[in-house]
Amino acid sequence: MIQSFNKIEKVFASLTLHGDKSISHRALIFSALANGESEITNLPQSDDIKSTINCLKQLGVQIKEEVNRTKVYGRGFKGFVKPEKPLNAGNSGTTARLLSGILAAQDFDSVIEGDNSLSRRPMNRIIEPLSMMGARISGTAGNTIPLKFYIADQINSITYELPVPSAQVKGAILLAGLYSDIITKVIESYQTRDHTERMLGLDTEKHQIKSVISVSKSNYPVSQKYYVPGDISTSAYFILLAILTKSANLNIRNISLNPTRIGLLDILKNMGADIEIEQTGASNGEPFGNINVMGSELNNVNVSEEIIPSIIDEIPILTIAGIFAEDDFEIRHAKELRVKESDRISALCYNLALLGLNVEEFDDGFKVSGKIKIRKPVFKSFGDHRIAMAFGILSCLLDDGGKVDGFECVSVSNPGFIDQLKSITS
Ligand code: S3P
Repeated sequence: MIQSFNKIEKVFASLTLHGDKSISHRALIFSALANGESEITNLPQSDDIKSTINCLKQLGVQIKEEVNRTKVYGRGFKGFVKPEKPLNAGNSGTTARLLSGILAAQDFDSVIEGDNSLSRRPMNRIIEPLSMMGARISGTAGNTIPLKFYIADQINSITYELPVPSAQVKGAILLAGLYSDIITKVIESYQTRDHTERMLGLDTEKHQIKSVISVSKSNYPVSQKYYVPGDISTSAYFILLAILTKSANLNIRNISLNPTRIGLLDILKNMGADIEIEQTGASNGEPFGNINVMGSELNNVNVSEEIIPSIIDEIPILTIAGIFAEDDFEIRHAKELRVKESDRISALCYNLALLGLNVEEFDDGFKVSGKIKIRKPVFKSFGDHRIAMAFGILSCLLDDGGKVDGFECVSVSNPGFIDQLKSITS
């Protein structure tokens, strides 16, 4: 489907968004693991979250969805039932990788599969540490989905240093670590999102560069109430629209302010954006609050290697800010972008080149300079929700508007994108 966008002149509004995707996956999975009834408020109705819900239902978990409230009847330690068919994670890397940590430890065989995009994404990054823990997993063509899990003798604890900064890999190991009495330790050199640690209440020792996170069976989740604050990654598109529209004041309420997720706000402030952040509460270890943004002039700044994991999902929309800011925009040390829902480095470079900008592509990033020369471009989503939303926002900033081909993929994280855009601009 081709979606058209017209130029937007002003943004004066208040916006409340559905729950954060990463926190929602974990709230569902931890509730399913716990014994008895948990209640989750503000879950999104997105495809990725539906994938997690469907996989958990196939594992015998009863889930009742009511208006803005979801009840999950957890099956307790090793209480899942053998699924009759392969579990389908759809487009969702988080569903596949987090559930792998759990499937590896069950007393039944199972299979997890996904769509074409997920089937291209590397799974050796979880197969390797989980196999070190005693799991028996075989991937397709060595390291891709479908993954087959065979009954393991037992899950052993390990100490494992992450070779790639990935919260999904960290999460898979920590979840498998719930099946051993002995402490498993995950060491990370670059801070990735820490929802698993916060929501399970895990101990993290912070050293100068590295952090060590510990988990064992004593951290197995118990049933509880979860409130999922608004999705900061979803809000990023509207934040950038407001900043770049100039005539703007956008207030976003009850949004996740987890420090490992707000790297984009720090960079935008350094670029000169007028952003105010106020924490108003915390729930299940996750802080949330309000963000106020005003139209601002931006200057490009150096984006350091350490901050990349905390903006990994926001690089497409940060790039849109980068092309309107003074000076050239450059991203390096971001090779991980090549193995997201699409190869985001090549997807970004393709769409930026369509505008007549000078684009230099590197293995781990890209550099863009020059002025937009082309009118009414038709961008390609590459089936990737974050590419679609970033170029949808860019289209709203062009004098003659623009179009995005393959826009329907936004349902992966935000089926309400167009309605929200209308609500803040009309
Ligand atoms: C996620 C972690 C990130 C992120 C993804 C969600 C999570 O992936 O890109 O959208 O919820 O753990 P990696 O950890 O693989 O970088």
